[in-house]
Amino acid sequence: MNDSSLGEKEAISGEKTESSQTTAKWLSELTLAHVNALTPYESARRLFAGSGADEKQICLNANESPFSSEYSVDSSVFNRYPDCQPNTVINAYAQYAGLQASQTLVTRGADEGIELIIRAFCKAGKDSILICPPTYGMYAISAQTFDVGVKKALLNDDFSLNTDDILQYVGKVKAVFICSPNNPTGTSVVKADIVKVLSAFKNKAIVVVDEAYIEFDNEHTQTDLLAQHDNLVILRTLSKAFALAGLRCGFTLASPAIIKILLKVIAPYPIPDPVAQIASKALDDYGLAKMQKDVNVLKAELVSLQNQLQQIGDIKIVGDINANFILFRSTYKTDLMAYLVKNKMLIRDQSKQIKLDNCLRISVGSPKQNQILLVLIKAFFADGNQ
Ligand SMILES: Cc1ncc(COP(=O)(O)O)c(C=O)c1O
Repeated sequence: MNDSSLGEKEAISGEKTESSQTTAKWLSELTLAHVNALTPYESARRLFAGSGADEKQICLNANESPFSSEYSVDSSVFNRYPDCQPNTVINAYAQYAGLQASQTLVTRGADEGIELIIRAFCKAGKDSILICPPTYGMYAISAQTFDVGVKKALLNDDFSLNTDDILQYVGKVKAVFICSPNNPTGTSVVKADIVKVLSAFKNKAIVVVDEAYIEFDNEHTQTDLLAQHDNLVILRTLSKAFALAGLRCGFTLASPAIIKILLKVIAPYPIPDPVAQIASKALDDYGLAKMQKDVNVLKAELVSLQNQLQQIGDIKIVGDINANFILFRSTYKTDLMAYLVKNKMLIRDQSKQIKLDNCLRISVGSPKQNQILLVLIKAFFADGNQ
């Protein structure tokens, strides 16, 4: 861990001691070189940790749901270790996804699915994965954590897959990560492109399609391809449409053979019992109906937010709105971010990503939160703050 990450830890705990500010020589020598070189993922939570976050802040920066639900749990079983793969959760998710239980793995968020694939299929210091930026940052971070290389086939300018470029990596990578709908561009990948990639990498590499936001764009799911393509892995989560980011529960969907391999590298008790209990409820008829209702509200809000945003200042919408966020470009992005933070409105800067200069991302909030956001953005441009 490097100095900047230590600083972040201190900000979280609020404790700052002399000795914790620098890593002792013996400790950095003991640490693996690739670990010394790591910078931890700047999650939305970490970025604002210790910055005086308070309840009045509106968080539209982590693609979370603005809606929460109440759950109660049965604590009488907490003296026991939980099942590694609780049947109730596996069966419920398999049914929801239209698959068999043997094709379904439950994990500590979709992020753990990413990690398991890299750990099971990539050799440290030797193998590589392929990513298609601009995209979700955890594929690269997870690979770097295990000293696995990261190759890049950039998306085209319209954020579609550059399949010609991707195909050049056949035989050179062990896993290809494709995000659809893609974070942060909100664009979805067409099935023909996925099939092309799956066929080219057949018997050579795992093709991972990250469908963390699929409930916002159901018709683009690739689950039907699992029947013909044994190198396909699909990632899902309860963190987005199901409004359970705090639960840390995700799913990996793949052939029974791949699921068996991933079960060799997963922790013995990855899913705490309260998580399993709540996940089962989120996936029952009532939970699914609630999720669908939330998604409908958020999709309508996204369209309205998009229409209004593009009429303000120099704002230009970038990408699409197939997930639960909007990406836009403004030459005033730095001042606009600062203005919003000052007014307790948190959105996410994406401008460091390739092809996304001057881009900011807004996670769609509740109708009320979106109104507050629009009022602030309009005030920023009207006041000549830029
Ligand atoms: C594309 C994508 N995949 C996976 C994740 C992680 O999901 P989880 O909360 O289930 O770990 C995120 C979270 O933002 C995401 O955007």
